[in-house]
Amino acid sequence: MATKAARPGRMRGVEPRDERNGQTRQTHGPCTFVVFGGTGDLAKRKILPALSRLRLEGFIDDDCTIIGVARDTGMDDVKYRDVVRQAIEDDGMSPKEIDRWIETTVFFQSIGKSAPEDFAALASRIEAVERERQQPPNRVFYLALPPNVFPATIEALAHAGLSRNVTGPDNGTKYWTRLVIEKPFGHDLQSAIALNQLIHRCFDESQVYRIDHYLGKETVQNLLIFRFANSVFESLWNRDHVESVQITVAEELGVEGRAPYYEQSGAVRDILQNHGAQLIALVAMEVPAMMNAEFIRQEKVKALRSVRAITPKNVVLGQYTHGEINDHSVPGYREEPGVAATSRTETFAAVRLEIDSWRWQGVPFFLRTGKRMKKRVTEIVVKFRRPPVWMFTPLGAPDLHRNALRLTIQPDEGFALYFHIKAPGKPLKLERLPLDFFYKERFTELPEAYQTLLLDVIDGDQTLFVHADEVEAAWRLFSPILDNTLAVSFYAAGSWGPKESDDLLQRSGQKWSNEYRRE
Ligand code: NDP
Ligand code: BG6
Repeated sequence: MATKAARPGRMRGVEPRDERNGQTRQTHGPCTFVVFGGTGDLAKRKILPALSRLRLEGFIDDDCTIIGVARDTGMDDVKYRDVVRQAIEDDGMSPKEIDRWIETTVFFQSIGKSAPEDFAALASRIEAVERERQQPPNRVFYLALPPNVFPATIEALAHAGLSRNVTGPDNGTKYWTRLVIEKPFGHDLQSAIALNQLIHRCFDESQVYRIDHYLGKETVQNLLIFRFANSVFESLWNRDHVESVQITVAEELGVEGRAPYYEQSGAVRDILQNHGAQLIALVAMEVPAMMNAEFIRQEKVKALRSVRAITPKNVVLGQYTHGEINDHSVPGYREEPGVAATSRTETFAAVRLEIDSWRWQGVPFFLRTGKRMKKRVTEIVVKFRRPPVWMFTPLGAPDLHRNALRLTIQPDEGFALYFHIKAPGKPLKLERLPLDFFYKERFTELPEAYQTLLLDVIDGDQTLFVHADEVEAAWRLFSPILDNTLAVSFYAAGSWGPKESDDLLQRSGQKWSNEYRRE
């Protein structure tokens, strides 16, 4: 059930400059969401439900229009309204209310063969709907399309005159047009640069919203607050106190029917280059001059550019074989429908990164991701240095008693800071215990990442989106390991990845911190 309490998404306390100067935020009226790929999996699972909730919770105007776009010539307004009806949760709305909303605000336009005349027809349809509904020409073009279609669609939008911000008939009123692009943004550095160049020929960067849905997660946004609103942590956040950083993005899921995409992608492109790079940047960055999109981006880019080139000895790739997850037998990757029997696509990747900055010199960052891992968990573990002198040798090695901070991005969102304490009584005994906090215990519901991000698009806030520079810096970082020549080891589904991944840490005197159990 939706709750109305939390406004989704805005980094709490992080407001655009104008507001801090005492001016008020620009409010938004109704606008038109043109969802390319409006009949696809992402639209049905994420985009349409998020729009429905935002409207229901009063965050976007009741009159916002949705125009689904796909090639399907058999689809029309009536059939598309059924697609939307099935996609959204009722969230407590009566069937009558759902009908009233959908019948008046949802439309469909086929772009047939994607020819110029199809886009001209789309432009006319958008104008007609806006006219009919007496709605200002504020428009979002959301590309939830197969990535190979991005370039042609962007060009076609520009050719049809749909990429520019519309100016009112009196030339005074300025409206906005925004472009939202799903991941993957390119296949490698060259293709990302080419896509950026094409976008910049058709749109201004201020109109562009590249999605990395991890940035819409509350716990990812909280990294900035955690670091820069708490002097107790930030003063320890450097090479003098931190011994290593581990970042894990582990999934229990396999490829889930996305084999055609995943075979071309693999774990490095699917997760490390985007979600992984964002997590590294947020952990490693310096404090921005101000908490706004531009300054945060500058620091993130600087952090990514400070990472030393990855060498093959610091990389482990893996592919899952059959195994068991939560007592269920699951097939190996090569047995999944649509996967080649000899596929070398990696479903696991672990890298050791070194950051050449004054703050992080000499502190290894370990980043790993995998499908069909033992447990779904995304987390960051910061291990602090041992005490300079260990006075309790008879009670065990200092390794056992190192302080650590575990920031859990999902699923049990929260954090735990591990201390050692004296267990009461005699003989003297130390125990390591967590001081922890869980979102669920304090807040009722965390907003869905897509709700947060869509609302920010309407608000015109690019803070949680990936700028052109960032996406290129992230590709540059992983370029050395995209050439398909590295060995791929195997790991059983339901494990923590190949043995080589443990060896990677062991060589630095470290160990993956796999399990957290609340004491
Ligand atoms: P689907 O294959 O499920 O849907 C693709 C959609 O695009 C369909 O509506 C299809 O309809 C339409 N389409 C295909 N070609 C064209 C074209 N030339 N012009 C206009 N419409 C077209 O893909 P997904 O929804 O899974 O993925 C969409 C995008 O979202 C991809 O970039 C993907 O990487 C990204 N993404 C998806 C995630 C997911 O969980 N699904 C997660 C993260 C990102 P039709 O064939 O009728 O044209
Ligand atoms: C997507 C990847 O970007 O993120 C998927 O393409 C992956 O392969 C998904 O499953 C994970 O997202 P989340 O929010 O479940 O961690």
